Amino acid sequence: MPIFHKTDALKNHFSAISKGDTIGMVPTMGALHLGHISLVKKAFKENKHTIVSIFVNPTQFNNPEDLEKYPKTLAADVALLQKEVSKEIIVFAPSAEEIYNGTIKSSSYNFGSLEKVMEGAFRDGHFDGVGTIVEKLLTLAQPNTAYFGEKDYQQLQIIKKLVQLKNIPVRIIGCPIVREENGLAMSSRNERLTPELRIEAAFIYKTLKTAKQKFGTKSAVQVTAWVTDQFQQNKLLQLEYFNITEANELQPFKRKSKNRKYRAFIAVYADDIRLIDNISLN
Ligand code: PAF
Repeated sequence: MPIFHKTDALKNHFSAISKGDTIGMVPTMGALHLGHISLVKKAFKENKHTIVSIFVNPTQFNNPEDLEKYPKTLAADVALLQKEVSKEIIVFAPSAEEIYNGTIKSSSYNFGSLEKVMEGAFRDGHFDGVGTIVEKLLTLAQPNTAYFGEKDYQQLQIIKKLVQLKNIPVRIIGCPIVREENGLAMSSRNERLTPELRIEAAFIYKTLKTAKQKFGTKSAVQVTAWVTDQFQQNKLLQLEYFNITEANELQPFKRKSKNRKYRAFIAVYADDIRLIDNISLN
């Protein structure tokens, strides 16, 4: 399986492929799980070449401890890709110095109202960091299509905006959340949960599903109050936010309208591990 650590080596590899061959890209921060694998399988099926980038991007972490504790498991990631998809997958795993060219700093973007809510509000500078690395990776690999999971739904909307703002000629595809058997959304951070917290964390999706049901007859304010109350009674999970928004710009709204799509978003701490999830409401 070809693994590149240097941008020049990757560029050389791609300069040798036939014109007209399609490239699918799956940007990741490693610690791969079956959620990532579902993206890679889709990319592999739909393109002639598939590249998976594995890079824990320092500029998108607002909390240095979270960065330090983020799992880094390149050998296991490569083995999983080989076993679950194919050894033809190209892996790009640069160092921070390599991809940032020595200056590890975010660019600044204007993602408008999209960056002011939820992850943007609670994680200062996060989306500038995501924008910076995704712009670098897409510009370098020049894929026809790039695949991202809907667990990070706000990130997906930000990336769609990024490619518009920067005129990057790539199709951005969002793929459904993959869940563990108990409903917990798959995430690299789940690896850090104790067995007890892993079981308890199923409460997040269970609550989202009931919130969806309630939204059929109740207002966003009423459903939010109900969810807040559920978490107040939970001793192991701390709610950071629960928001119901319309499904594109992800803004709060006053009145439900029949023709609009809505989505609920949640961020929860299990000990010091931050988990996010979301659900379509109609
Ligand atoms: O979703 C992620 O894993 C990261 O935010 C991404 C898109 C790979 C950028 O570092």
